[in-house]
Amino acid sequence: MNRELILKALIDWNFWYKDQFTGYLREDYVKEILSIINSWYITSVLGVKRAGKSTILNQVAKKMIESGIDPFDILIVNFEDGRLASVQNVEDLFRLYEIYLEIKRKKDSKPYIFLDEIQRINGWEGFARSLIDRKEAFVIVSGSTSDLISDNIRKKLAGRHVVIRVYPLSFKEYLNFKGLNLHNEVDIIARESEIKSYFNEYLTYGGFPGIVNSNVKEQLLSSLYEDIIVRDVITPCKIKEVDKLRLLSLYYISNVGNRVRLRNVSRQLQIPLRTVQRFTQCLIRANLIYFVNPLSPNLSVMTRAEKKVYVVDQGLANIIGYRLNSNLGSLLENLVFVELVRRYGEENVFYYRGKRGEVDFVIKEKDSVKEAYQVTYYLNEREYKGVEELLKWNIPVKFLTFDEEREINIKGKNINVLKVWKWLLNNK
Ligand SMILES: Nc1ncnc2c1ncn2[C@@H]1O[C@H](COP(=O)(O)OP(=O)(O)OP(=O)(O)O)[C@@H](O)[C@H]1O
Ligand SMILES: [Mg+2]
Repeated sequence: MNRELILKALIDWNFWYKDQFTGYLREDYVKEILSIINSWYITSVLGVKRAGKSTILNQVAKKMIESGIDPFDILIVNFEDGRLASVQNVEDLFRLYEIYLEIKRKKDSKPYIFLDEIQRINGWEGFARSLIDRKEAFVIVSGSTSDLISDNIRKKLAGRHVVIRVYPLSFKEYLNFKGLNLHNEVDIIARESEIKSYFNEYLTYGGFPGIVNSNVKEQLLSSLYEDIIVRDVITPCKIKEVDKLRLLSLYYISNVGNRVRLRNVSRQLQIPLRTVQRFTQCLIRANLIYFVNPLSPNLSVMTRAEKKVYVVDQGLANIIGYRLNSNLGSLLENLVFVELVRRYGEENVFYYRGKRGEVDFVIKEKDSVKEAYQVTYYLNEREYKGVEELLKWNIPVKFLTFDEEREINIKGKNINVLKVWKWLLNNK
């Protein structure tokens, strides 16, 4: 290990001698991380590439410094930095930590260690666990593929581990990035036309923080997609049949909101089923593609039934997917999916498939079904059938549409029809 090279890299990433990029504050994430960090849990910050994880880590560090923590008590290490290539295993990690301890200024304080893109170091969890168990340092780790929280790692960190998932910007955050801070209903009414025009942009290009304020959104989205595919799918999964992987990924991205059965995908794309299964897992692990299971009102999850597919950002679906039948309805549905996942967690979002119809999203909460959402560009009666079935179970249902707002009556029950953009700005 080259000590000087390592120190140079560390000086570049840390707040020791200069400021770091912190961008627009993503308050909810920062608050959440700050609220766990001192409780001797290892915090894993996980999310698709370029969702803004490293920037959020910088924001957390900056907040800590503003509250009086010595900058030298915070160590940020980004393992993507080529100068750290010589750090390859746990022993190296301990050595890097020793180098840091030598330059740390206060000798009696407990340091905060931020390990970004740590999944590259095999066995890092042993290092993190030993610091936490000895109450020697606080540890936050971050990465973009779910290898960060593989079963094995979860086991080793059991009981001392919290996972925070980061997604591209919510619509509320998006508006903040545009300089629009809405505090109440009156603000929303006053700025309606601006909000709606931003909503169109958000629907079209999505919420990756790096593209929001750019004039070359399409190009940036394409290169971002390329980055995810090459660095977070092909490389970690050691995929050789790159063309097949690309074909499959494009297929999913072009089919958001549709039901898929891997057997049919295999036949349609002429890729062997086992390859489809393996590649699909890789796309899911990159936090790019999501599969949603159906849930029946009596809570039996039908894991073997067809799943619905979504992508982490509607901008990707729109720009990368084939646009033969560019369908605003599916983009809207995808956007609502990601918001529901933000609010309720991946493990609680399902869809409903009844005898006569479907409902796009059903939210599970503890031991019951909390509510359901039907998403449609324009309201139309074809969408009522599945809803009627859920109403029989007394499950509250909302319709989310592009721009309609009223109350309708289905089988004697009053149902709210809401504008998606307003719903996005209303917390729950
Ligand atoms: N809060 C923010 N304010 C302004 N710009 C941001 C913010 N967060 C992210 N960005 C922009 O998005 C880009 C990607 O952000 P960042 O590097 O934090 O993401 P990441 O999730 O760490 O990505 P990777 O997985 O590739 O490491 C940044 O270069 C920056 O341009
Ligand atoms: Mg990063």
